[in-house]
Amino acid sequence: MSNQRPALVVGNWKMHGRLAGNAVLLQHVAQGARALPQDVRVGVCVPFPYLPQAQALLDGSPVAWGAQDVSAHEQGAYTGEVAAEMVAEFGAAYAIVGHSERRAYHGESPELVATKTQRALAAGLTPIVCVGETLEQREADATRDVVGAQLDAVLAVLSADDAARIVVAYEPVWAIGTGKSATSEQAQEVHAFLRERLAAKGAQVADVPLLYGGSVKPDNAVELFRQPDIDGGLIGGASLKDADFLAICAAAAAVADSAS
Ligand code: 13P
Repeated sequence: MSNQRPALVVGNWKMHGRLAGNAVLLQHVAQGARALPQDVRVGVCVPFPYLPQAQALLDGSPVAWGAQDVSAHEQGAYTGEVAAEMVAEFGAAYAIVGHSERRAYHGESPELVATKTQRALAAGLTPIVCVGETLEQREADATRDVVGAQLDAVLAVLSADDAARIVVAYEPVWAIGTGKSATSEQAQEVHAFLRERLAAKGAQVADVPLLYGGSVKPDNAVELFRQPDIDGGLIGGASLKDADFLAICAAAAAVADSAS
């Protein structure tokens, strides 16, 4: 973390949750987040049907909320799709786009992810653009090529001013849900590479928040967040447990405090 950029920790609930359990989790997270310093921002990205619940329970709290995807279309005959404008109507701040689970299971191409990013921005949402390589790609020494191409596809369709409004999450596919996080050195190396690519788009893009995701837990968060180009985390499994998620937020606060 660097003192130029605020820390950001976002939970990605994926396809988890039920109304009753969500209420307890959201209330505890909102309560815990009140104790955090203002330079640590916190968000939760919930399944679409729970956006009104997140809005009702988080409005007025320091915790922002968002969705895990948006349609590439504005509106129309697209059964089952959810438009970015609909998400925004529920007060959402964020929309994850291009998560590796969507790229892998729904065949989302880099171009589609780029269009979704544009839709999110047009609706006033902050897109959290996910990039990451598979284990095979890492072993073939293709990590930079893969994440560079994923990021470039998005940057290609944005003005520098719009690009400055996104968040990028580096999530190595092999580290997601596996309990096997990238080492802080591995993550920092890719983050520094992504930072360079962002800076090449324009000076105002260089300080886009860069989150690391993939098996972030309370016990490895400090070490990851200490890296100069890691501005926070995108948290899967640990965001479903209030104590773990808040401990990760507290780790971001501790690192931000020592960086300032
Ligand atoms: P885990 O934290 O469960 O590894 O998931 C990471 C992720 O995919 C967040 O988007």
